[in-house]
Amino acid sequence: MEIQHHFSLKNYNTFGIEAKAKQFIAVHSTEELKDILEQKKADKKFILGGGSNMLLTKDIDALVIHIDLKGKNIIKENDDFVWVESQAGENWHEFVLWTIDQDFGGLENMSLIPGNVGTTPVQNIGAYGTEIKDTFVSCQAITIENQEIKSFLKEECNFGYRESIFKNDAKDQYIITSVVFKLTKKNHKINTSYGDIAAELARNNRTEPTLKDVSNAVISIRRSKLPDPKELGNSGSFFKNPILLKSDFEKIYQQFPEMKYYEISETEVKVPAGWLIEQAGFKGKRFGDAGIHKNQALVLVNYGNATGAEILNVSKDIQETVFKKFGIHIEAEVNVI
Ligand code: EPU
Repeated sequence: MEIQHHFSLKNYNTFGIEAKAKQFIAVHSTEELKDILEQKKADKKFILGGGSNMLLTKDIDALVIHIDLKGKNIIKENDDFVWVESQAGENWHEFVLWTIDQDFGGLENMSLIPGNVGTTPVQNIGAYGTEIKDTFVSCQAITIENQEIKSFLKEECNFGYRESIFKNDAKDQYIITSVVFKLTKKNHKINTSYGDIAAELARNNRTEPTLKDVSNAVISIRRSKLPDPKELGNSGSFFKNPILLKSDFEKIYQQFPEMKYYEISETEVKVPAGWLIEQAGFKGKRFGDAGIHKNQALVLVNYGNATGAEILNVSKDIQETVFKKFGIHIEAEVNVI
């Protein structure tokens, strides 16, 4: 374990932003993590997972602890289900592919989401009709303050749309070290309800799709819409899709009857922020090295040397313009540091 100084984080955030950590250390086991937390009790700390959901707008004046715990194993099984535990530092997509290779079902719709396993519960990641909360059983975490181990069961995590206790009441208090998922061994629940998936499977003549077929369909849809962070810096959806009260939505809808929306409850409607941003004229626009992706307006991109502040400015411009046009506030999904 070695602490590095003035360490560049460019390769540690998927936006590819150049920012420096005052100090940096990668930890490879829970013991190393405990040790460093104990040794550096008085120091300011910043916990870094896969760096796929943050925008760095400044250097980090703290000890950056990069969670690099590896390993996955089956902890329990019966005829129908398997309980799989993954350490926090496993790459999410590689973990998903591993589960599919074993013919374990439940994560296939979330193929190719960037980031590491340990951060998936924080914002209850989701895609194509599935969220982490659908297969999540529990996670283990350690308190930053006094290195106590705590297990969080699903009911304790307060999962919501891109929300959890780790973004709210428990914010900045815990480091997630491992996560357990309950996956199917047979009678997989293939979920192709999301329009694009069914169409993609039909195109490939997959009438009885396997987990691998669904995963491949998701991968090909994502590749067609979302930029690969290795080629073009980005953080996936920059904004959340806003949720409006039906009564408020109806007033706006009268003015914009072409607006896309999904009813999510008796009283609430979700509106795709990508649609709002496209209508506000931003899709595919570029401001210096900061821009809005040409195939998905919800994704902000770094063409090379954009600073975090430049991307943040573009995001503010988008928020203001969308608010002026529709009276709808769109909130960042990405953590702005
Ligand atoms: N749309 C536009 N213009 C755009 C983008 C989207 O009009 O530029 C419209 C589409 O035509 C469609 C609707 O908006 O009618 C929804 O678009 P899409 O299916 O692409 O999904 P999304 O709501 O924009 C969400 C997630 C994505 C996830 C996809 C697929 C959020 C914030 N984003 O995007 O998650 O991959 O659904 O399930 O909920 C992420 O969180 O990083 C992410 C990529």
